[in-house]
Amino acid sequence: MNRRDFLQVTGLATLGALASNAFGMQGSGPSIGRTRSRRSKSVMGLAHKPMDKVRVAFIGVGARGSGHVTDLLNIEGVEIVAICDLYKDWAERSAAKVVAAGRKAPTLYVEGPKDYKNMLAREDIDAVWIATPWEEHIPMALEAMKRGKHAFIEVPAAPTMDEAWAMVETAEETQRHCMMLENCCYGREEMLVLNMARQGIFGDLLHGEGAYIHDLRGQMMEVDRGTGSWRTPHYQKRNGNLYPTHGLGPVAQYMSINRGDRFAHLTSMSSNSRVRTIYAKEHFPKDHKWNKTPFQCGDINTTLIRTAMGRTIMVQWDEQLPRPYNRLNLLQGTKGVWGGYPQRCVIEGMSTSTDKWEQDAELKKWYDKFEHPLWQKQGDMARKMGGHGGMDFIMNWRIIYCLLHGEPLDQDVYDGAAWSAVSPLSEWSVARNGQCVEFPDFTRGDWKTAKPLGIVGA
Ligand SMILES: NC(=O)c1ccc[n+]([C@@H]2O[C@H](COP(=O)([O-])OP(=O)(O)OC[C@H]3O[C@@H](n4cnc5c(N)ncnc54)[C@H](O)[C@@H]3O)[C@@H](O)[C@H]2O)c1
Repeated sequence: MNRRDFLQVTGLATLGALASNAFGMQGSGPSIGRTRSRRSKSVMGLAHKPMDKVRVAFIGVGARGSGHVTDLLNIEGVEIVAICDLYKDWAERSAAKVVAAGRKAPTLYVEGPKDYKNMLAREDIDAVWIATPWEEHIPMALEAMKRGKHAFIEVPAAPTMDEAWAMVETAEETQRHCMMLENCCYGREEMLVLNMARQGIFGDLLHGEGAYIHDLRGQMMEVDRGTGSWRTPHYQKRNGNLYPTHGLGPVAQYMSINRGDRFAHLTSMSSNSRVRTIYAKEHFPKDHKWNKTPFQCGDINTTLIRTAMGRTIMVQWDEQLPRPYNRLNLLQGTKGVWGGYPQRCVIEGMSTSTDKWEQDAELKKWYDKFEHPLWQKQGDMARKMGGHGGMDFIMNWRIIYCLLHGEPLDQDVYDGAAWSAVSPLSEWSVARNGQCVEFPDFTRGDWKTAKPLGIVGA
């Protein structure tokens, strides 16, 4: 056993994670889970006046942001005013799409990492889509809200607890929408399960499972620019569930988290870190930056959450092991269960047996009866647009609908904060051999009276 193996086996490798690092991870004791008192008005159920059109700007039009540009170009009532990116060619690539659609060319902000502030100083922007590296999300969202704009932030919204609180407090101070763009909540399967859960098909909900299992080692080839260039250092410096929200968001909505229940505490464990080191050795020279700093992040992280109402949720994360893509998407209630990947269902009294999954063609009856109204209405367009099977389009369409009609959003700042908080809280727990840690209550008690998310028709 070499020194590195020894450190990993004894758990001492996580000691590095205890120190505050470049991403501002906190490891400073139980205060991490403490609820902070409210200084301004709640934004639970926040709605603004209906708008004639939504004037949109983008910060970050790389792999993800450029897809949002395409979506928003295909939604009525949107004007794309400005685009900001570090790379002029990427900003121009997205601007060209706007012009090709017969619209006015957006103004570009490509003069370095702080140029977004100049863009946000403009008066003619209502909402900003932020699709930048994780560590950039919150400073940009705070600036946007302080400048009077609604902020829509990619996942996970906040990589640290301080930033999760900052986003909540700033949304409350400014009374702006601040939504994390958790697109998986808008997947056809997830919306079906949400509808079935709301109709009581699963009975009382007891347990859920969500995950982000996706072999993304290939992103390490993006060394100087692109996703791998900024995401890889996170795996070198942190250990926990670094990307919890795709699997967790839908389960949280099924269980009405922050609207009738809330995350109470979690415990988290990571396996050893292996395959990124192997990948780096195989693909890069010895003195390459991917070989110089050891990878801290366990290859697979498992986190268990218990809610205030006594439900349990398992959240897994693995962005590196050789294994097919999976978000689990499991929901168990007193009357039955849905499982994803592959989709399967058993409902006592409605399925032929509780010993055998219904699968494939047998699932048609559930879709025929419980297809979510949003998918019934927008499904064809969503499928045509693509983007993770259409969920991206449904999400963006629904956000614009809510802004135009002055309705509350389906995900609010408390959801974004609570779902993202699994990252820093799991890091804290992993660094302490799975010690249990409390979740703060970002809603400060509002979860007890807030209405569960309904089955919206438009
Ligand atoms: N919801 C999803 O399905 C999904 C999918 C992929 C990525 N994401 C998220 O989207 C975000 C972006 O990821 P990506 O894969 O597009 O990365 P990317 O590297 O392709 O794009 C990030 C962009 O941000 C720009 N940027 C960085 N700092 C900036 C600054 N200071 N000012 C202006 N622009 C700046 C970069 O130039 C780049 O174009 C991440 O939060 C990621 O987790 C979400």
